Amino acid sequence: MQFTDLAPFGAEVSLDLSGAVDLATHAAVRRLLFERGLLVFRNQDLDHVRQVDVMGWFGKVQAPERLNIVSTDPETGWGGTGELKFHSDLAFSPHPCKVMSLHALEVLDGETSTLFASGVTAYAALPAPVQARLAKAKSHMIMPSDYADVTADALPSTDHPVVMTHPETGTPLLYVNEMQTERLVGVDAEESAALMAAAFERLYDPAAIYEHRWNRGDLVIWDNIALQHARSTLPVRNRRTLRRVIVADKLFEEMFPGVRAQA
Ligand SMILES: [Fe+2]
Repeated sequence: MQFTDLAPFGAEVSLDLSGAVDLATHAAVRRLLFERGLLVFRNQDLDHVRQVDVMGWFGKVQAPERLNIVSTDPETGWGGTGELKFHSDLAFSPHPCKVMSLHALEVLDGETSTLFASGVTAYAALPAPVQARLAKAKSHMIMPSDYADVTADALPSTDHPVVMTHPETGTPLLYVNEMQTERLVGVDAEESAALMAAAFERLYDPAAIYEHRWNRGDLVIWDNIALQHARSTLPVRNRRTLRRVIVADKLFEEMFPGVRAQA
């Protein structure tokens, strides 16, 4: 297996995932994912079953039988075309998605992109006194009201440590984001605002962002605990369709049976 580093994090791996891949290579790909946060495989042609197989290298695939298509065309899939600010899927729940994948089935090469920010590199870049202040706080995360069919007081929410220890790697990382963190708890309102500003300055520094520009056939796999993702508004003239397969402990509807998520 060969790979090249992407900047400022991630790796592009040269490997045809459609054929047989031995167990030693599974293990090497898995290690590389948790080291680099994100892996790009170009020019893949994977059916749904094979994408599920590959994601099984990283843990338990949720609802493997269910086809999950993200598309700018509402007839084809969910997700719409609007801007999405930085977030981690299901970060407002006790069981955020662990590893995520998107496989580009239909895109105009180079037209659209997904942005990634790393809580690991952002934490490491902060001065020690700010790290220490952040470690005292929790991140109160809430599902944005635009994406659920419930009143504000019934929106799914939970608290996570602002400085989370990654469950696989033991590395400390910043677990706050601009879409889902409503405020920090355990500190006063003024300190909460100042600490969130300090965290966001590191997380969303343009030099710290990896922009993945989509080509047809790309498979991008990322660590949804270490990384956050975002996108700009998508053009509607060319359909963009991606297949999504995730590794997670629980599904949204298991945790929040009374809430219907809407794209
Ligand atoms: Fe997302």
